[in-house]
Amino acid sequence: MYAERRPGEDDARVETAAIADPQPARGSAPWGMFTESFQRNLARWNHQRMAPQFPTGDWRTVLDSDHHMLELEGEFLEELRLQVADEAAQAPTDPEGFVAWFENLIQTGPGQGDALFPWLAEEASKEELRWFFEQEAAGEAGFEDLVALTQVKLPTLPKLELARNYWDEMGRGNRKGMHGPMLDLLAEALNVSPSIDNTVGESLALANAMTAMATARRYAWHSVGALGVIELTAPGRSALVAKGLRRIGLSGKERHYFDLHAVLDVKHSEAWNREALFPLVQEDSRRATAMAEGALMRLVCGVRCFERYRDVLWGPSVSTAFN
Ligand SMILES: [Fe+2]
Ligand SMILES: [Fe+2]
Repeated sequence: MYAERRPGEDDARVETAAIADPQPARGSAPWGMFTESFQRNLARWNHQRMAPQFPTGDWRTVLDSDHHMLELEGEFLEELRLQVADEAAQAPTDPEGFVAWFENLIQTGPGQGDALFPWLAEEASKEELRWFFEQEAAGEAGFEDLVALTQVKLPTLPKLELARNYWDEMGRGNRKGMHGPMLDLLAEALNVSPSIDNTVGESLALANAMTAMATARRYAWHSVGALGVIELTAPGRSALVAKGLRRIGLSGKERHYFDLHAVLDVKHSEAWNREALFPLVQEDSRRATAMAEGALMRLVCGVRCFERYRDVLWGPSVSTAFN
C-alpha cells in the first residue's frame, strides 16, 4: 500500500506503553490470526518493541512477553503463507521468468483493479476519503524503516538498490523532500489522527505482516518481494486517490504524497525488479519462491483491506456484489 510512514506514530507509542488487552493463547486456531483483537495486540506490541528505549529492570519479563508474541507473529505469517503457497510455487525460478511473473502481478495480482479506487477518485465524499485515509495511515513501521530493516546483510546489488530507495524516502537528505512528513501534512489537511484503536483489523494485519517480514530474518526474501510489490502496485491506486483528493478541494501541496507516488513508484518498481529481484534470483533460485510468497502475502492482505473498506463505506450487501 502506498501509505508508508504512519502519521501519529510517535503519539501512539506514548499512549500504548503497555499491551492493554489480554494476549491470545498459544496455538490459537488459524482463523484466530485474523481477528481484530489479535491484530490490535500485535500492532500495539510492534509499536512498543520498535520504539527506541532505555534499559529497564524488568527486561527479562519483557523478553518472555516478546518470545510469546514472536511465536504468535510466526503463526500469523505461516497462516498467511499457507494461503498463497500454491500460487507462489507456480512462479518461475529463473531470473528473467521470475521478473516477468512478478511484473505481471500489476495485472493479475490479488486486489488489482479493485472497484474501491475508481469510486474514491470519482464519488467518495470528503468524509469517506477521510475515513479511508485514516485506515491506511495507522499501521506500524513506515516504508523507509521496512526497507532499512530488510537490507541488513543483503548482497551488494540489492543492498545498493534498497539504499537508493531509502534515500528517496529520506528526500535525498532534505527534510522537505521526505515522504513521511508529506503524509503528515495530508493527515493534518484531512484532520485525521490515526490510531490503532480506530483502525480496522485488516489494515492492522497488513502493517503487522509487513513489519514481521522485515524484522524476522527468515522472511528476509519475503520482505523484498512484499516491498517490491508495493512499488509495483502503488502508482495506479495513488493516482486515483490523488484524483479524489483533488476533487474534494485539497491543494497540490496537501495531496503531494499521492501525486508523487503515482509517478515515482513506477521508477522505484523498475529499479527494484532489475537491481534487487533479478540478481537475487540469479544467485539463488529458491529466493524466487520466497519473494513470490512475500508479494502475494502483501497483496492478499490488501484484498482483505479493500473488502472491509467497501463493507464499511458501501455497506455489506453492495460490497458483496463486487467481490
Ligand atoms: Fe515513498
Ligand atoms: Fe517508492
